[in-house]
Amino acid sequence: MNVETEPKQKKVSLKGRHLLTWKDYDREEIVYLLERALEMKEQPLSEALAQKTLAMIFEKSSTRTRVSFEVGMTQLGGKAIHLNSRDMQLGRGETISDTSEVLSRYVNGIMIRTDSHQKLEELASNGNVPVINGLCDIYHPCQALADMMTIYEQKGRFAGVKLVYTGDGNNVAHSLMIIGAVLGLDVVIASPNGYEPLDFVIRDAERLAAENGGSLQVTSDIQAAVNEADVLYTDVWTSMGQEAEEQERKKALAPYQINQGLLEQAKSDVSVLHCLPAHRGEEITAEVIDGESSVVFDQAENRLHVQKAIMEALL
Ligand code: CP
Repeated sequence: MNVETEPKQKKVSLKGRHLLTWKDYDREEIVYLLERALEMKEQPLSEALAQKTLAMIFEKSSTRTRVSFEVGMTQLGGKAIHLNSRDMQLGRGETISDTSEVLSRYVNGIMIRTDSHQKLEELASNGNVPVINGLCDIYHPCQALADMMTIYEQKGRFAGVKLVYTGDGNNVAHSLMIIGAVLGLDVVIASPNGYEPLDFVIRDAERLAAENGGSLQVTSDIQAAVNEADVLYTDVWTSMGQEAEEQERKKALAPYQINQGLLEQAKSDVSVLHCLPAHRGEEITAEVIDGESSVVFDQAENRLHVQKAIMEALL
């Protein structure tokens, strides 16, 4: 992988680590995972996780995360168990810490999709198996690693790549800011007033960008932001749990839609990403997401490859 890293001083070993946010990983570790994901895309099957079991707890709906983790475990010789939190004692008041202690006696790793980063931290601190964040209110790290793999496949580098995320400054934007900063991209977040990323994530990403040779800009000026963009990225305007705000969100975020006009202001070889599910006609037009610049299905496929790399390394 053509990424400038410090001279290798240590063998990368991630066994037993949690993945809650990319803030906890350095560039060498992230590059290692990306290299393994690229290798696994070529050679998908192994017995690396034979006899190992992953518990997957979902407090929210999922298509890509659920299926790619489950298929990934199968392709590595292991097994994944799907647990809907409503069907668990967790849904009837059993504590996170007890759940974590108990699951640690049965399984080799836990992936959870939850509405609370605090819950993730509690799960991680009370058990003794790796916990993987399958999306929370603040971050979506597995998605961001697949996004970086897709960008690398398209551009062949990270340094100097201008990634423009337009729309709601949400968990997807936060993880792009953090991983983009560690890998040295030039990340621009274009969001309307009131929909900016959280202040503490901006501060973390600015610090990491300064340390790693990247940059971060947060702006409400979408027209200026998109100029010379290598990658354009957006996400739904109304995420799970925000349905009551749908109308006001549509109004505020409408100028941030990725459409043909916006695309034409970016570089001619711009790649368009979207973490999916997409709402055609809202955050992105059908013409763009189904057009030649779009790589959204490669991006969705890459969820499988990066998560296999993560599970192989952590479990
Ligand atoms: N992008 C993403 O996380 O998709 P799902 O919600 O379908 O898992």
